[in-house]
Amino acid sequence: MSSPSSVLLAILRLLCFLNGQGMIAKVAANSRVHIVYLGERQHDNPKLLTDSHHDLLATIVGSKELASELMVYSYRHGFSGFAAKLTESQAQKLSELPGVVRVIPNSLHKLQTTRSWDFLGLSSQSPSNILHKSSMGDGVIIGVLDSGIWPESESFNEEGLGQVPSHWKGVCESEDRFSPPIHCNRKIIGARWFIKGFLDESEILPDRSTEFFSPRDAHGHGTHVSSTAAGSFVTNVSYKGLGHGTIKGGAPNARLAIYKVCWKVQELGDPSCSQADILKALDEAIHDGVDVLSLSIAFSSIPLRPEVDDAIAIGSFHAVAMGIIVVCAAGNAVPLAEMVQNTVPWIITVAASTMDRSFPTSITLGNNKTFLGQAMFTGPEIGFASLIYLGLELSAAGVYQSLSHNTTMVAGKVVFYFTTFGLGTVRNASAAVKEAGGVGLIVAKNPSDDLGPCNEDFPCIEVDYEIGTRILFYIQSTRSPLVKLRPPKTFIGKPLSAKVAYFSSRGPNSITPAILKPDIAAPGVNILAATSLRDPLGEGGYRMDSGTSMSTPHVAGIVALLKAMHPNWSPAAIKSALVTTAWGNGPSGLPIFAEGSSQKLANPFDFGGGIVNPNGAADPGLVYDIGKAGYIQYLCAMGYNNSDITRVVKQNTKCPIKKPSILDMNLPSITIPNLNNPMTIKRCVTNVGAPESIYRATIETPFGTIVSVNPNALVFNSTVRKLDFTITISAIHRMNTGYFFGSLSWADGVHVVRIPLSVRTVFAPL
Ligand SMILES: *[C@@H]1O[C@H](CO)[C@@H](O)[C@H](O)[C@H]1NC(C)=O
Ligand SMILES: *[C@@H]1O[C@H](CO)[C@@H](O)[C@H](O)[C@H]1NC(C)=O
Ligand SMILES: *[C@@H]1O[C@H](CO)[C@@H](O)[C@H](O)[C@H]1NC(C)=O
Ligand SMILES: *[C@@H]1O[C@H](CO)[C@@H](O)[C@H](O)[C@H]1NC(C)=O
Ligand SMILES: *[C@@H]1O[C@H](CO)[C@@H](O)[C@H](O)[C@H]1NC(C)=O
Ligand SMILES: *[C@@H]1O[C@H](CO)[C@@H](O)[C@H](O)[C@H]1NC(C)=O
Repeated sequence: MSSPSSVLLAILRLLCFLNGQGMIAKVAANSRVHIVYLGERQHDNPKLLTDSHHDLLATIVGSKELASELMVYSYRHGFSGFAAKLTESQAQKLSELPGVVRVIPNSLHKLQTTRSWDFLGLSSQSPSNILHKSSMGDGVIIGVLDSGIWPESESFNEEGLGQVPSHWKGVCESEDRFSPPIHCNRKIIGARWFIKGFLDESEILPDRSTEFFSPRDAHGHGTHVSSTAAGSFVTNVSYKGLGHGTIKGGAPNARLAIYKVCWKVQELGDPSCSQADILKALDEAIHDGVDVLSLSIAFSSIPLRPEVDDAIAIGSFHAVAMGIIVVCAAGNAVPLAEMVQNTVPWIITVAASTMDRSFPTSITLGNNKTFLGQAMFTGPEIGFASLIYLGLELSAAGVYQSLSHNTTMVAGKVVFYFTTFGLGTVRNASAAVKEAGGVGLIVAKNPSDDLGPCNEDFPCIEVDYEIGTRILFYIQSTRSPLVKLRPPKTFIGKPLSAKVAYFSSRGPNSITPAILKPDIAAPGVNILAATSLRDPLGEGGYRMDSGTSMSTPHVAGIVALLKAMHPNWSPAAIKSALVTTAWGNGPSGLPIFAEGSSQKLANPFDFGGGIVNPNGAADPGLVYDIGKAGYIQYLCAMGYNNSDITRVVKQNTKCPIKKPSILDMNLPSITIPNLNNPMTIKRCVTNVGAPESIYRATIETPFGTIVSVNPNALVFNSTVRKLDFTITISAIHRMNTGYFFGSLSWADGVHVVRIPLSVRTVFAPL
């Protein structure tokens, strides 16, 4: 444990270090870091850009010397701007200067982990087909913005990897237990760290007992995410004695560029990352030559910020304009509508799905009836033991109380009860039963609730109310009820009916409801990957974790494979390929459910196009592409004025007098939040399959609507690669409804290019 004084010393040392010659800046006490965003770079010389940033700041603060002291970062590679310590009034004055697009106060984002689920099991996401065709992503560089990396992990071994790709221009920084060339290799080709914005914003500061002031990962999150995206093959990995096997990332031959922007301040608790640091990392990553960016980071809160007030939205805009594909987490809000984060249309926003029910534990009653529950204990089978029923609706305290009344009651027995309480109480109840000498616990609880392992070394088994009721009837039917429990089997790669994870943030998009978010789902529950050796929850350098943080690098890895196969595809084309080929039904063909307050079939607000299908995405047939003009159209539609857009895109822009409709943006989805009069929407598809092909439209009509497509057949040949079409949608009933869902698919006999349709009709009240 570090005392407060040692924390303070560490901070002082750090500040000295950051200020070069040990100077502590004379900064007004009421100042904080602000991002001053100036749009696209006006010229290519980074030195001149930085000078111009200092000049601009000096005009507000009075002198060049003071400007230098206040300057935190100069953004000068991917776009132009700076971060500086400013008072409110300085920020206000700056925002009024010509050329300044926005001044954004710095703030902290969170990594998107949820630690409530640590089941066992190996996710065997093995797109063997495209792994082979893409040389496993060789030559592609994935930039990861996260909590850094544990470079010694076997997952980052460079065995069999060729030279560092020639387009790489980044660096491997040397600092606190991180030194090139030892800690960079042909897998980890670059590593940097950005902390100044965090130090200014965070109430608790990290110290050397909990953090490394270098790219080294103290928390484990960044290591986990990096190894999921691009970990090398590691054979014979076992986790707590179960699930022996080979582990690898999505693109085992892709290279990693590490940008540490998230910092740990407590032993447990998600690291935080500041907007100013994230923006600096994006600026550098664009310059360094990354091909894909993976950000398991979200602001974790509503209301959403407009695109030009959000560092991830701004930085990713410029990255995408340079052809870099940006993949971000949808967030881990509770499964309520409209909580999805990272909603700008140029990024790929990833929801999380399960691959379970994958830890079946058999419960055999004395009458020889067997039921399956879910658990994760590793112990031996428990032969027939007495089964006792504690009652209904017990909290943890209730379980303690019931047990304390009669201590001999539980010894050697398996306890059974019903509850509507959550994970914490089940864990505590499990501890109580164990303490009282019980040998196991069966809990009947709402199946849509989060239930993690209550205890890894104690048989604590979850069943739903239906099975619970049958167990109860058995107990009531006999004088001496008995039960036998077998430890869970590790799931072995057979596709099971998947679900959208309960924690995965849902649409609709609260800032631009006509842009469908999330875009896609990927496995994000019980993902085994490498971690930091400082991670208290790690075991042997690996750990099981869940979150949209874990699903995001799955998609980033798959994107790296697609990029290796199709180096000329734009970020929008790659996103389209992912969305139009995703499994709306699971890999097994079974429908996908969404966890949450009720068990319902998943819809596009849960998972966008569906669960990612890597092999399908490699050969999508048609893509809905978007270039710079499409994004300008979006900014016009969002109401940004010509001078702002001209700055952002560095192209003289005049939005049409009649605002373009966001609905016409060429996205691989159609979401109409307010259908009233019949509406006609434009789309354009580009053929990326065989040149001579004919596609025909099939529509799954959302309830209460009439949908037609014109034309309903598309004929491509070697000269006709792009074709436009329109979709006309009208409401049957003149009433306000919720959203109804359907799809539009183009099929040529080989490909099915499917986009989700989501329609809500809104008529003014009488
Ligand atoms: C696999 O790992 C186990 C335990 O870590 C070890 O005993 C065993 O020898 C290893 N097997 C191989 C083939 O390396
Ligand atoms: C349960 O099965 C075992 C073995 O198959 C058998 O010996 C026993 O009689 C059965 N018990 C009941 C209650 O059917
Ligand atoms: C405690 O529970 C056991 C087993 O259910 C029972 O036989 C015993 O009578 C109970 N003792 C008291 C004091 O209730
Ligand atoms: C579980 O027990 C711990 C320690 O006894 C207590 O702090 C915590 O509040 C309990 N949690 C619940 C949900 O009852
Ligand atoms: C454009 O919009 C920004 C912010 O909304 C505003 O500050 C600026 O004055 C506007 N420019 C023009 C030319 O209207
Ligand atoms: C492709 O189709 C267009 C339109 O039908 C036609 O004008 C053109 O000649 C065709 N090109 C080839 C190479 O067949």
